[in-house]
Amino acid sequence: MPSPQPPRRFPELPAGFRFGTSTAAYQIEGAATEDGRGPSVWDTFCAQEGRIADGSTGDVACDHYHRYAEDVALMRRLGAGGYRFSLSWPRIQPTGAGAPNEKGLDFYDRLIDCLLESGVEPMVTLFHWDLPQELEDDGGWLNRATVDRFAEFAAIVGERYADRVEHWIPVNEPNVFSLLGYATGVHAPGRTLMFDSLPVSHHLLLGHGRAAIALRSAGATSIGCANNHAPMWPASDDEADVGATKLFDALWNGMYVEPMLLGRYPRDLMPLMEDVIADGDMATIRQPLDFYGVNYYNPMKIAAAGEESEMPFAFPELVGYPTTDLGWPVVPDALREWLITLRARYRAALPPIMITESGCAYGTGPDEHGVVDDQPRIDYLEAHLDAVATAIRRGVDVRGYYTWSLLDNFEWAEGLTQRFGLVHVDYETQRRTPKRSFDWYAAMIAAQPKHAG
Ligand code: GAL
Repeated sequence: MPSPQPPRRFPELPAGFRFGTSTAAYQIEGAATEDGRGPSVWDTFCAQEGRIADGSTGDVACDHYHRYAEDVALMRRLGAGGYRFSLSWPRIQPTGAGAPNEKGLDFYDRLIDCLLESGVEPMVTLFHWDLPQELEDDGGWLNRATVDRFAEFAAIVGERYADRVEHWIPVNEPNVFSLLGYATGVHAPGRTLMFDSLPVSHHLLLGHGRAAIALRSAGATSIGCANNHAPMWPASDDEADVGATKLFDALWNGMYVEPMLLGRYPRDLMPLMEDVIADGDMATIRQPLDFYGVNYYNPMKIAAAGEESEMPFAFPELVGYPTTDLGWPVVPDALREWLITLRARYRAALPPIMITESGCAYGTGPDEHGVVDDQPRIDYLEAHLDAVATAIRRGVDVRGYYTWSLLDNFEWAEGLTQRFGLVHVDYETQRRTPKRSFDWYAAMIAAQPKHAG
């Protein structure tokens, strides 16, 4: 007789562990020209031929601007107590400077109030890549004056929302934004400055610090970050590969975490940064943080590049792992590894960790019964939450996990071709269909010991 399958167990996280979902304004809101919103670098970029895989834009995206109440109702049904979203800077300050647009501010009032009424705690990102176009026209993040504009924006939104919003993140993934936006040009604003883009990284870090100060003085009590991290694995033991790995680790990981937590750049990078650092900058960047946000997707394999390459490193494919639709390797254990590495490297300087993004792209759509059977996403979530649970058992203080994303949405240069959501979105009808992973996430949360949700 076949033995009955044992019931599938859920990952076990400590009591009070916070579960959530994450989104970003340009990826879901739409309403690109409504209620006084100004253009952002992403509007400009999407309008350029050949930039976006399917030629789509964020003009409508998930139409969340009009459907936020339906989306918050889905969150209530999910039972996750946290929701991370971003403010559209050009909705609030259409040109990136000056008096705020009341209608833009009102939208986030409505969203925040709706979340709180539904028992969902907002976590607000100030900058998730949609820089007002007018600021870009003045040099964007290459221009130090953008840092001043960002601090003013932070003061406006802090004063407006800090009475209801506890958790704040000034800048999403400064490394991804500066590398793809200003070094390689794959993302908006599409600049290809390679190493000459390094001032952007410094200004984003300074923006992080200045915004944290402005938010704190407006009454914000929990301020963190959302830094994209990847463990770096050398392609071989060869000295050249190990050296290239060390350098890329410093550029991708160390360059952001060290200024934020220790007030200095990794030693190897100092010669590259000296010219942009003004007196007092490093102290400004190193603000006390209440949580350290980690966005994790996959580890990277690094090799030394050949003579002819413009960059000193190469990125050979990491083979031997399943991959998502984007070809990204699924390696949950590398999340455990990174959490333990972070603690080992920064010890007392490291605040409690939040996983501010973690998720996967699988294109599964509804079957003939309307069911979206995305088992690979369930496997992904289960394995990554297990990895977090293991890190916690090894003594790393991780307080929450926000999966990317609540909804399928506009995936930057990939347009609408990649689906990261727990909820399927039909872009023709805007119909939302919770996937099987949504039900799994809900059941997993409900099964937690005395969970805070
Ligand atoms: C992150 C980014 C998100 C989302 C995700 C999936 O780097 O913060 O906006 O697009 O990647 O690619």
